[in-house]
Amino acid sequence: MERPDWAPTGVDPTVPSVARVYDYYLGGSHNFAADRTFAAGVLRALPGMARVAQENRAFLRRAVSHLAALGVDQFLDLGSGIPTVGNVHEVARAACGPAARVVYVDHDPVAVAHGRALLSDDPTAAIVQADLTDVEPVLAHPIVSDHLDLDRPVAVLLISVLHFVPDAADPAGILRRYAAGLAGGGFVAVSHASSEGVPAAEDAEAVYNRAGSPHSMRMRSAAEVEQLLAGIELLPPGVVRIPLWRPDPLDDVPVDAATYPGYAVVARVEPG
Ligand SMILES: C[S@@+](CC[C@H](N)C(=O)[O-])C[C@H]1O[C@@H](n2cnc3c(N)ncnc32)[C@H](O)[C@@H]1O
Repeated sequence: MERPDWAPTGVDPTVPSVARVYDYYLGGSHNFAADRTFAAGVLRALPGMARVAQENRAFLRRAVSHLAALGVDQFLDLGSGIPTVGNVHEVARAACGPAARVVYVDHDPVAVAHGRALLSDDPTAAIVQADLTDVEPVLAHPIVSDHLDLDRPVAVLLISVLHFVPDAADPAGILRRYAAGLAGGGFVAVSHASSEGVPAAEDAEAVYNRAGSPHSMRMRSAAEVEQLLAGIELLPPGVVRIPLWRPDPLDDVPVDAATYPGYAVVARVEPG
């Protein structure tokens, strides 16, 4: 198979990746047949998956705009994915102007290569290839310190990624350690897949947890998502279905928002 120029050498096109499968749900073109075959299995279980991904991106935009309105102009986007419409640096720049600073973090080589190409001429945004569970090395990374001043408020974004962190890796502890690293305080924004009240999402989770999946998935209930943020002050409206997190007044909230298979929450981190 011919390697497209966007795929770094070393990427095995026959093995699906979480980032490329998600790119496919969003209608992107940075995916291989193996990604599309895996995605087809998920779409059979949860036919609305493409809309689920779009609602998730819409939450990301609303959260960044809201945080900018609260005075935040620095963003650390963990598990940022393959760049797509409405990237955090674009939303942040529209909301905060040229002061906006963004660092993306992903462990997927295609996401990182595409991010590097997109940001090569941009002194205000950059991408780091790292595993977000390596909290202290991520926070101490020179690209992070070149772009973000941790003595001022920073928003840490974990959008549609913590369900790829198993309980054994202690996602609550990971969040606590990121919060502890924000000397100047800031915010944590999370969206998280959930099968609570959504049987089709349980079927989709099962597809991620069987052989041939790019990664196992641990969906969590609203109470479990709240537990991940224990000890951190949740901003109103707390943990809610993703389309119900501060919907834009001019947008129609989807009629099935109450059974959307995921939750969103933004929490405030006090200065350390
Ligand atoms: C479902 S995509 C979400 C992308 C983006 N945050 C969004 O919501 O549009 C999950 C992303 O997290 C990345 N990811 C998963 N586990 C990760 C980890 N432990 N460290 C860094 N990135 C991770 C994947 O490579 C993928 O790009």
